[in-house]
Amino acid sequence: MPIVVVVGAQWGDEGKGKVTDFLASQADVVARYQGGNNAGHTVVVDGTAYKLHLIPSGILYPNTLCIIGSGVVVDPVVLCREMKYLEDLGISTERLAVSSTAHVILPYHKVLDELEEADRLEKIGTTGRGIGPAYADKYARNGIRMRDLQSEESLRRALDVVLPQKNKLLQKLYDHPGFTVDQILDEFSPLGPTIRRLLSDSSLLVETAYRKGQRVLCEGAQGTLLDIDHGTYPFVTSSSPTAGGAAPGLGIGPTRISQVVGVVKAYTTRVGEGPFVTELRDEIGQAIRDRGKEYGTTTGRPRRCGWFDAVMARYSVRINGLTGVALTLLDVLDAFDTLKICTEYEYHGQPLSEFPTDLRVLEECRPVYRELPGWGRDTTNVKHWDDLPEAARAYLQAVAEEIDCPIQYVSVGPGREQTITLKAVF
Ligand code: GDP
Ligand code: IMO
Ligand code: MG
Repeated sequence: MPIVVVVGAQWGDEGKGKVTDFLASQADVVARYQGGNNAGHTVVVDGTAYKLHLIPSGILYPNTLCIIGSGVVVDPVVLCREMKYLEDLGISTERLAVSSTAHVILPYHKVLDELEEADRLEKIGTTGRGIGPAYADKYARNGIRMRDLQSEESLRRALDVVLPQKNKLLQKLYDHPGFTVDQILDEFSPLGPTIRRLLSDSSLLVETAYRKGQRVLCEGAQGTLLDIDHGTYPFVTSSSPTAGGAAPGLGIGPTRISQVVGVVKAYTTRVGEGPFVTELRDEIGQAIRDRGKEYGTTTGRPRRCGWFDAVMARYSVRINGLTGVALTLLDVLDAFDTLKICTEYEYHGQPLSEFPTDLRVLEECRPVYRELPGWGRDTTNVKHWDDLPEAARAYLQAVAEEIDCPIQYVSVGPGREQTITLKAVF
């Protein structure tokens, strides 16, 4: 049975939560492979909106095994809070597992995230959740892992090693008082019993499911253009949201992955700083923001909005090896007379058809648009391709053609039932 990766193909918030939840009805396992609670995935079921930051979007099904893989950075406080939030809503978290090798976000990571961002000459606009500092410690081999939370004694041992160095940094560089081991233990010890129950080997769980012929979905967080290697660095996150990240992030071989579904919005958004070629700083951008309710799930910040950027999406098709696309929020475009798709960039008078890796070039690119007529009709109740307005089908065909990748799903509303399937992954 195939392992399918669901990946954000733009700058995040493409609707990965909605698409993962939709596909999860057919899956046995849903696994997050990177990022942390910088993610905000909204899933709407029967009119109720569930906001997930860390727990995979398969959790709303009673029989789906949900895994937080070793590539994720876990804030244990947020994890336990999110479990309680779900339990309070009647959603069981019995089938949740967390890799014991996933790294932990500690209180000093969050403080450092804020302090470093404030100190930065060129702001990134991070979510302030401690993501960058936690990944930095992981790669500097100064991290604390979920398995260190097994007992108070093991956490104390780990903190005794890393905390003096962190305190030195906080006190000498930022004039911050730092943290004591006991302070952190006071916060984390009550979480111990819950955490111990979750600890597992994500690699073994996924491989076992694969060998049993079960269906596995890997749920990406953030998006391709926020990837540490292939995104618009330095305006990126600190992990590998791209499809390739699923292999190390879960501990599976790349040969196990058979399909990669890229989630794209019918237009483009971005939260935080960094270049955005098709950004609309006018009333059209505001109309998209209003219709799409484009305000961040995690930080509530207004998202920057613009037309669909096919140059960037083509790049995403390449970087992720997309086998198909799930296009979301088509209904947001119901109200526009004319729609635009950016088919290439213009850089100092020269056409550019490939997404530039040089940020300074990207910053000076102008969009070249192909215009298409709008359809001026509500699509939120459409269930089949043939029932979409002709102009909507033409728009979708133009997107597929420009990015050279087939569209497998079209989403016309936040609800599970507002999804048109053209070609199912399972
Ligand atoms: P994610 O981070 O990629 O999971 O995306 P978010 O959940 O942060 O943002 C997507 C938002 O759009 C959420 O509020 C979803 O409920 C909503 N959404 C998803 N698909 C559709 C759609 O097709 N139409 C509309 N109107 N809203 C959608
Ligand atoms: P989901 O999974 C959109 C952005 C932040 C910032 C940059 C770095 O909901 O799509 P970080 O806190 O990760 O160090 O911030 O990345 N960012 C996101 N933007 N959706 C997300 O997640 C994001 N996660 C991080 O706004 O620009
Ligand atoms: Mg989001």
